[in-house]
This record gives sequence, structure tokens and C-alpha cells, in this order.
Amino acid sequence: MNSNLIYLDNAATTLMDPEVAKAIQTSAKEYYGNASSLHSVGTMAHEILDQARARLASLIGARPDEIVFTGSGTEANNLALKGVAFANAQRGRHIIVSVIEHDCILKAARWLERQGFSVTYLPVDHNGLVDIQALEKAFSDKTILVSVMHVNNEIGTIEPVKEIGELCRERNIYFHSDACQSFGKIPLNAASLNADLLTINAHKLHGPKGVGALFIKSGVNVEPLLHGGGQEKGIRSSTENIPGILGFVMAAEIACREMDSEVRRVTAMHEYILHTLKGSIDGVYFNGSLSTRVPHNINFCIEGMEGEGIRLQLLLDEAGVCVSTGSACSSNDGGNPSHVLQAIGLDPFQARGGIRLSLGRFTTQKEIDRFLEIISEKVKQLNPIF
Ligand SMILES: Cc1ncc(COP(=O)(O)O)c(C=O)c1O
Repeated sequence: MNSNLIYLDNAATTLMDPEVAKAIQTSAKEYYGNASSLHSVGTMAHEILDQARARLASLIGARPDEIVFTGSGTEANNLALKGVAFANAQRGRHIIVSVIEHDCILKAARWLERQGFSVTYLPVDHNGLVDIQALEKAFSDKTILVSVMHVNNEIGTIEPVKEIGELCRERNIYFHSDACQSFGKIPLNAASLNADLLTINAHKLHGPKGVGALFIKSGVNVEPLLHGGGQEKGIRSSTENIPGILGFVMAAEIACREMDSEVRRVTAMHEYILHTLKGSIDGVYFNGSLSTRVPHNINFCIEGMEGEGIRLQLLLDEAGVCVSTGSACSSNDGGNPSHVLQAIGLDPFQARGGIRLSLGRFTTQKEIDRFLEIISEKVKQLNPIF
């Protein structure tokens, strides 16, 4: 691995904290038991799992029995949407989600439409904030679930989830929030957000990939998607990934412990980047709310150069800088323009040209200074394409 690499794509995934990697390695040797086995090796694994569940629960103000470990954020989001839909279909078959959700929510919602549910897709304003009036209009006596993410993965906007949760609670409608991009970055508490379900995962906060969790408030009915050995109170059958779960909990504890100082450090970095980019790149404009946002994310376009977004990403990559573009937050989507940038009012052409920088706990000021030098050079090689 090139040690001069500057990794600014922490919203896609993060470098695993070396302390966490070490703990995973040790626990894979020590706690290899199946937590469902009745012998001593299994019992030890079970005890470790119980402790990990309690530690994770306490970080989000939940009870241990309200945490279901999953294999990813994607799985937790699918379980929330489909599980609530199927368990509560007798009450109604209407679901509300925002248009800027991650694909794992949007595609699960579209799949539910094919199973006979109806879905309302809530618009957002130019800052990416969900339209509360549209939500109030969308509610019907058939609505069983609202899902709005806490922080958007492309533009970093923090959604008014507390208010949305309150509106749902008044109407006895379940509220789910995808908190993959907020957990460990800003405070997350299930009760204060009025959330009935919350999705979190490990690899966005310097933990391992392939581990997530769904908070399910006590009393909320969820139909399992995986049937088998009955693990996780029967809601998610599969032998639990104890080393991965321990790594998740450890990474989450570190992130939550360091949150305040990290927010201060990253906010200063964010302001510095904005100020420097404005001074060095003609026509730069920033996407997402300037105030209601996490400081870890910066999404920008260059006026007249939007068609060169992917080329800029490649030029940066050649120079050892990793960033995302508005069309390739996922390289699996065939280079479609970002649905999030279009939802905040950019046209499809502009929405291809967004560059996303996302900062993490290991991003240093030295890296940022070097990145800013590199980008001001690379931008000179771009040609306007209209
Ligand atoms: C907001 C959001 N939700 C869900 C996911 C999916 O999580 P995972 O990669 O753990 O499946 C991601 C990660 O890309 C995300 O950013």
C-alpha cells in the first residue's frame, strides 16, 4: 500500500483502527465458539456476545434486548423495511421514505411496491432537508412505517429526525432511521430521536466490514427475513460473528469517546478546505446544507466542469488521492447521475460532477494541505464540457 496515499473517502468505508484489528484477531482465536452451543466454549462465546450487546446498547441509549446484530447496514435496513411491512400489513400497507435514502432503502421500498405495498417518496429542499409539510400530507390511516435517514451519505445533511419521529409517534406509526453515517460522528440516542428502529454499522467508524445492527424498540413487531437456528431472538438466524461484533463494539466505543474532540478537529478542517477551495478554484460550489450537516463531508461541483467530474477523480487518484464522484458513489450503478444531487435541484449533467470528500479520524492536516495543492493543479488540466 502506498504510504503517501491520501484517503478522503471515509463515507464509503474507513481504514480499520489498528487497535480494533488486533482485538478481532485475538478474539477470533479465543472466542471461536458458537454462541448457541451448550458447552464451555459456546457459553464463553455467548457471554462475550451478551456483553458486546449491552455495551453497544448503552452507546445509543437502548436496552440490550433491543439490539439485533446483522451482517451489514444493508441487511439491517432491509430487515427494518420488509420486516416491519410484513409484520404489520394487517394495519395498513403504506410506507413513507425520503427520495435521498441509500439504495438499500430505496430498492427495498421498490421491491415492497411489487409485493402490493404503496410507497410515498418524500422530496427534499435544496439543502437536502426532508420536507416536513410533504410528510404531514403523506400520512394516511394506512401508513405503518416512515424511514428517513439521520445523515445523508452523499451530502452530509442532518435530517430533522427528532421532529419526524415525534410526528410518527403522535400517529402510532413506526419510525425507522438509517444512522450508518451518523453513528460515532454525532450524538445518536434512540429515545431522543423518537426512533422505533435504527440502523448502524461498523465499517463507517473504523470497524470491520460485514457487521451491522438494528435497534428494534421493545414491542415493535418485525417479521424475520432469515429463518434458521433462531439466533438473535429468532429475528436474524445465523451463527453470530463474535470477532466482528466485538470489533464493531470496540470501534463504536472509541468513536463515541472521541466524538467531541473529533467534531472540533474535523470542523476546523472542513472550514479550512471550503475556504481554500473557494480561493483556488473558480466556480466551485458546495452541495448540501452549509449549517445542518456533519463536518466530515464536503460535496462540491465546479461550474462548467461538471462533465469532468470523473476525470478529476481519476487525475486525483493518479496523484494518490481517493475521493468519490456524484456518479460513482457506487461503481455498481453504471455511472448514473447521483439521485441525491438531483433531488436537491441539480440537473443530471451537474449531478454527475459532484466530488465528495469524506474525512475520518485518521485524516491529518498534512494530508489536507497536500490534497489542496494537488487539486488546484489538477483542475487546470480539465476542459469545460457542456
Ligand atoms: C447511509 C447508508 N446506509 C446504508 C449503507 C450500507 O451499509 P453496508 O455497507 O454496511 O451494507 C451505507 C453504506 O454505504 C450508507 O452510507
